[in-house]
Amino acid sequence: MPTWRDGKLGLPVRDAVKLFPELEKYLDERGRLDFSNREARILYNRAIARAVFGLDIEYHPWGLVTTPVSRYLFLKTFLRGGERVLEIGTGHTAMMAIMAAKLFSCDVAATELDEEFFAYARRNIERNRARVRMLKSNGGIIRGVVPEGERFDVIFSAPPYYEAPTKGVLTEREGVGGGKYGEKFSVRLIEEALDYLKPGGKVALFLPDKEPLIGAIAERGRKLGYSVRDVRFKAGTRWRHSLILKL
Ligand SMILES: C[S@@+](CC[C@H](N)C(=O)[O-])C[C@H]1O[C@@H](n2cnc3c(N)ncnc32)[C@H](O)[C@@H]1O
Repeated sequence: MPTWRDGKLGLPVRDAVKLFPELEKYLDERGRLDFSNREARILYNRAIARAVFGLDIEYHPWGLVTTPVSRYLFLKTFLRGGERVLEIGTGHTAMMAIMAAKLFSCDVAATELDEEFFAYARRNIERNRARVRMLKSNGGIIRGVVPEGERFDVIFSAPPYYEAPTKGVLTEREGVGGGKYGEKFSVRLIEEALDYLKPGGKVALFLPDKEPLIGAIAERGRKLGYSVRDVRFKAGTRWRHSLILKL
């Protein structure tokens, strides 16, 4: 189990600079890192991935800057270890799929839609010698992407969840979930998951602190016969949710 010092997950900036000396140029006179700078955020998160989780992650220059601690805390809300799992939308880092394989000893299959992110994900998986089977999405979510007849203990995703494109923060594929509250992608995912889960299996979604979005997915989930649990957790300064839907 990875921990840092007093058991808290994270990394002092001065230790990150030791791992990536290029970070030095983003420090102010008091040693504070300029988190508004994208390159600085990428280097700092690469340092955390390496120091805390033992992972070597290459980030795409303009993809979402995935934070390792938030992803690890999310996985801990529903994985015990050794499960057969499917991730929808690894992004370029494939960080969650890699963590599930290496830190939770799961048997992992994972999908991604974007060509370039798919290639990055593959390279990150190989670089970390993680056993993850990558499947290229053709625009589908599970059906038509994952071979029929496959069954999983858990299907998880950090789904696109905005209603409309964000201003330069995320690419459209990373961000736009569609629907009134951005719930459409997630709703389709939980509908299709019914045919790919083992009895008693779960879907877990990594979501922001957006009540209408969570409410819309949870309501549809209950109608589909899932029991729904919303686990709120803090990652850095932000509240995040792990919405767990169990058959
Ligand atoms: C919010 S990002 C999450 C990325 C990563 N899993 C993480 O934790 O940061 C959503 C990802 O889903 C991908 N995506 C969008 N539609 C998809 C689909 N139909 N099938 C698979 N991946 C998809 C996007 O390209 C993007 O990489």
